[in-house]
Amino acid sequence: MKRVAVVTSGGDAPGMNAAVRAIVRVGIDAGLEVFGIRRGYMGLIEGDMIRLTARDVSGILQLGGTYLGTARSEEFKTEPAQRRSIKNLAKMGVEGLVVIGGNGSQKGAHALWRLGFPVVGVASTVDNDLYGSDITIGVDTALNIIIESVDRIKTTAESHHRAFLIEVMGRDYGFLALMAGIAGGAEVVITPEFEMEPPNVAEELRLAHEHGKRFALVITTDGAKNNAETIERYFKEHEQEIGFEWRVTILGHVQRGGSPTAFDRLLATRLGAAAIDLLQREDTGKLVGWANGKVAYAPLDIVATHNKTLDAEMRRLSEVLNR
Ligand code: F6P
Repeated sequence: MKRVAVVTSGGDAPGMNAAVRAIVRVGIDAGLEVFGIRRGYMGLIEGDMIRLTARDVSGILQLGGTYLGTARSEEFKTEPAQRRSIKNLAKMGVEGLVVIGGNGSQKGAHALWRLGFPVVGVASTVDNDLYGSDITIGVDTALNIIIESVDRIKTTAESHHRAFLIEVMGRDYGFLALMAGIAGGAEVVITPEFEMEPPNVAEELRLAHEHGKRFALVITTDGAKNNAETIERYFKEHEQEIGFEWRVTILGHVQRGGSPTAFDRLLATRLGAAAIDLLQREDTGKLVGWANGKVAYAPLDIVATHNKTLDAEMRRLSEVLNR
């Protein structure tokens, strides 16, 4: 293999740049030419790629977002778009592709691989919902941003004796909410796996108030049925059930921005380097992730067809801790 390409796809995640930098520099060190695809799978369909030198990726290690740009592409889910992408890569003499991204992106990577193109995935999403990797690039940074925000909210909540309803990212996987609930000390955690109906949330808050708590936190997930919008609607109509005065904070895309933590930079660098190693050995069709404290490899066949489950023990712990 002489030429390889890298694409960042789906939602950006802090650390993606560190992975791109590692892929470019480790690739060049191994004698490869490395190309960067701009704007995710959209750029791949359009053949929008540039040769990257070691200098091109200097100064991006500490930056959030993705230097290459990213996008969510509905079109890429279709076979004609995937075939066009493979043609674009072949036209440039590219023989291997690294896809840095989460669930949707790795499904796309799997599709390209099934069509015969050598692909390696790198596990990257703030949601941490990728099967085959204990932790993904961006999670540590996002969680730290959430915890800092929760701590800040706590101080004002305590001053005013209020309850706060905080919504975090995660989509269909409640990892961020659950970990934030434990590390931030929430009274109630709601995830798509462990829903709680609004009247029960109100009841928990009322009990917390009755038990003399000076403030209370509810952390919910953007993709839960009972997300901030649903609960807020109920709270507005049932103010008297809650006990506390209350406010809502949706953390939103703040969670995905900002400089990656040292953990995410190191994880991204190691996964990027391992991806080049796999391409060189022509051992493709795999996701490079992290499991049991080291780099781990999972077949894209499995990754694309399995869902991660949220740890029920951790959920139980979150309930016990916040009495
Ligand atoms: O998949 C990452 C994620 O941040 C989810 O947690 C969130 O639900 C979604 O992306 C938001 O998507 P977008 O950035 O396209 O609004």
